[in-house]
Amino acid sequence: MCGIVAYVGRKICQPLLIEGLKRLEYRGYDSAGIAVIDEAGQMHIRRAVGRISVLEDSINNGGNPLPDAKIGMAHTRWATHGAPTEANAHPHTSDDGHIAVVHNGIIENYVVLKKFLTDKGHTFKSQTDTEVLAMLIGDVYADLKEQNHLPPGTSLLSRAVQAALHQVEGTYGIAVACKDEPDTLVVARKGSPLIIGIGADEYIVASDASAIVEHTTQVVYLNDNEMAVLKPGSFRTTTIDDISVSPVISELENKLEEYELGDYEHFMLKEIFEQPTAVANCLRGRVDAREGRIVLGGVSDMGRDLVRARRFVLTGQGTAWHAGLIGDYMLEDIAKVPTECTYASEFRYRNPIVEEGTVLVAISQSGETADTLAALREAKDKGAMTLGVVNVVGSTIARETDAGIYLHAGPEIGVASTKAFTCQCTVLAMLSLFLGRRKLTSQHQTQELIEALSNIPNQMKEVLEQSSQIAEYARKFCDKENWLFLGRGYHYPIALEGALKLKEISYIHAEGMPAAEMKHGPIALISKGMPVVFIATKGTQYDKVISNIEEVRARGGEVIVVATRGDTQIQRYSDHVVYVPHTLEPLQPLLTVMPLQLLAYHAAVARGCNVDKPRNLAKSVTVE
Ligand code: G6P
Repeated sequence: MCGIVAYVGRKICQPLLIEGLKRLEYRGYDSAGIAVIDEAGQMHIRRAVGRISVLEDSINNGGNPLPDAKIGMAHTRWATHGAPTEANAHPHTSDDGHIAVVHNGIIENYVVLKKFLTDKGHTFKSQTDTEVLAMLIGDVYADLKEQNHLPPGTSLLSRAVQAALHQVEGTYGIAVACKDEPDTLVVARKGSPLIIGIGADEYIVASDASAIVEHTTQVVYLNDNEMAVLKPGSFRTTTIDDISVSPVISELENKLEEYELGDYEHFMLKEIFEQPTAVANCLRGRVDAREGRIVLGGVSDMGRDLVRARRFVLTGQGTAWHAGLIGDYMLEDIAKVPTECTYASEFRYRNPIVEEGTVLVAISQSGETADTLAALREAKDKGAMTLGVVNVVGSTIARETDAGIYLHAGPEIGVASTKAFTCQCTVLAMLSLFLGRRKLTSQHQTQELIEALSNIPNQMKEVLEQSSQIAEYARKFCDKENWLFLGRGYHYPIALEGALKLKEISYIHAEGMPAAEMKHGPIALISKGMPVVFIATKGTQYDKVISNIEEVRARGGEVIVVATRGDTQIQRYSDHVVYVPHTLEPLQPLLTVMPLQLLAYHAAVARGCNVDKPRNLAKSVTVE
């Protein structure tokens, strides 16, 4: 949700900023902009509605090129306040044009601040909350300048940012520059991620590592209520109350190639095909089939407390919530501990009862989803132990939970989550086994599950081999505007996930539900030729699912079934079959989800949709 990249150093920064924006584009893509301050201290701003390519084209070919500059900032937007117009695109400036700001987050009290500033005679050009912040910083800056009582060497800009942020309610990740201090970049964060990349006499600040990794692997993750003043060759981190903070320099985990498309046409396809490797990386060093042991370094200090826990609450949004639903089944089935899975957005506001012995598990690819973070904080305030199941190392949820298990899935760029989902399920399976083994699960059972889990990456490769067969089904049905996805037990969440994937990237209306629920209403929707996707692998509820398939076929629905390899009987009940290898029931979702990811992908391609950047969506939603 909105991407920021900013630079101060000794290089000409425009190419770096545009390249950085392209890498961040998955965070938002309705408009973009760039501001630089040239050697003569002049501010230059360009903005455009649409993709980064439109901005780039207008700079390179629009007859209005940007002069060389060594300080600048850029932004790609996912609109919250104000429509995606050029006037609302970032960077925003103070009305005297001295201060420029890029912002990710929401200034909640912007209406009050806008009135205050309007009454003081300031004029606004946009409908955004960010322009209010730029104006406020500009207003404070002008006052401080007039008072002229700061000790020599103090950055007026940093003081103005601090003073302005004290008046602001809401969330922000910001970069600020002022044409009067053309060697100073001020950045600050509260609630929206910001990473400072440290190069040789230069700093690259960005919302996530993808825009930094090409230039340096040394980074500082800003914490909430912290800011940094960056000048070529020196930087200082403080709280926004100006208390010094010693920066902790970390090494970025992922390599540049992991952020690149390679030979694939889309990131989503690349990430679907990366699943065997991603799951293998997720399992690496954590499972020992011979000993029947699970080693989870990130939770080892909490091991005893986790075993004693009375209840687990799994939470997340979107695809992460679907993984949570599967984790709910796994924890009850394998670890025999009462568990519930709840939308983070609902948990937060329903005044939940958090009894002693409750563990809240926050599941999130990005580790920045605002709803999930809010649920985590609510649970913490009420005394729960908290656990993160997160992909992005150093993200807010990873840092605010008591302990955690990283996915190690590698960067996920496609807006529709795929490999993060299968890794989330893998982590939840390992957590269930970790707890189960310390309680009731026998060594034999544990060994059996660990062996099956270790075999999943190879079995995933077999599913991927059917991509072109699945593409044929997708092309056959992609003009149908209504689809149903049905499954039981462990495959009910997979039905939800299959429907979500199709909705997200191909804009086809799809519903997922427990197969048994269909007859309580949705069966009325079924008409001749409607595609209905069943997950009907061999398992405890196989016969029941077959009955549901018959109910659909009796009403003219066209049935596509995801079945267990070798099950020839299923062909009698279905129009089209995709086979997946057999595994133990709790792990079967790791394989059955893959044909549905591919079905959605191929349907979106067949419909000419922008797979990696679907309309209205953003990869990481950092507002509630
Ligand atoms: C957004 C994305 C979804 C994602 C959800 C949760 O809505 O479009 O694909 O599942 O956020 O994201 P998280 O980063 O918390 O897993």
